[in-house]
Amino acid sequence: MIKPRRSQDRQDYYYWEAKRKGYRSRAAFKLLQMNSTFKLIKEGDRVLDLGASPGGWSQVCRELGAEVVAVDINPMKPIEGVTFIKGDINDEETVDRIKSVYSKYDAVICDASPKITGHWSMDHFRSVELVMSAFRIAKSVLKYGGNFVVKMFQGEETQKNFREMKPYFRFKKFHSPKASRKRSAEIYFIGKGFRPVKRYIFLQNDKNSRDENGFKRSKAEP
Ligand SMILES: C[S@@+](CC[C@H](N)C(=O)[O-])C[C@H]1O[C@@H](n2cnc3c(N)ncnc32)[C@H](O)[C@@H]1O
Repeated sequence: MIKPRRSQDRQDYYYWEAKRKGYRSRAAFKLLQMNSTFKLIKEGDRVLDLGASPGGWSQVCRELGAEVVAVDINPMKPIEGVTFIKGDINDEETVDRIKSVYSKYDAVICDASPKITGHWSMDHFRSVELVMSAFRIAKSVLKYGGNFVVKMFQGEETQKNFREMKPYFRFKKFHSPKASRKRSAEIYFIGKGFRPVKRYIFLQNDKNSRDENGFKRSKAEP
């Protein structure tokens, strides 16, 4: 359980509720609220939890009866039924490790946050990088019809990110759960009913070309 740093946090209802119910983070309530509104995770699902530590979302997924693979750059104390991968979601190697547990997932959920500097625009751009990494991973591991949730800090790229992600989902929406702090810039993109979209974005013989998931190709395709 993360200790509250500010006196405001110590008075926080969700902090004490998390402590009382044995959740490792107050963030657990955000996923519970989003799941009850949007029905994202169900019993038997395989769920990929990105930016998972200390583990509140993974605990909720286990309660919902899902099999969980959790990824974080920081360590996470074990949870029964959760396979933990310590890695950076921006690295392709982490994606290989994710795929070595299950090749496809019913849901990808991402609550990853950059280290907050308090500088609005810098925090926004760091968060955009994490959002795009989570989206690349989701495109490569989601089952047809699967669900995606990703946190972002709002800013000038938010609408652009939305336009990029929305063709891939039957249902798409931005949502702010009640458990998010009032002063927070965070918002969640909810995508339901994943459907791959073919895009030809790489150029012949361009060494910087990327595959359809956005990863750099080692060699340009003929
Ligand atoms: C707000 S916490 C997640 C809380 C979690 N959902 C819970 O309920 O306990 C954000 C997490 O994102 C992780 N993170 C930040 N950048 C990351 C990256 N590049 N790859 C993997 N995890 C990352 C951080 O280490 C941190 O544990």
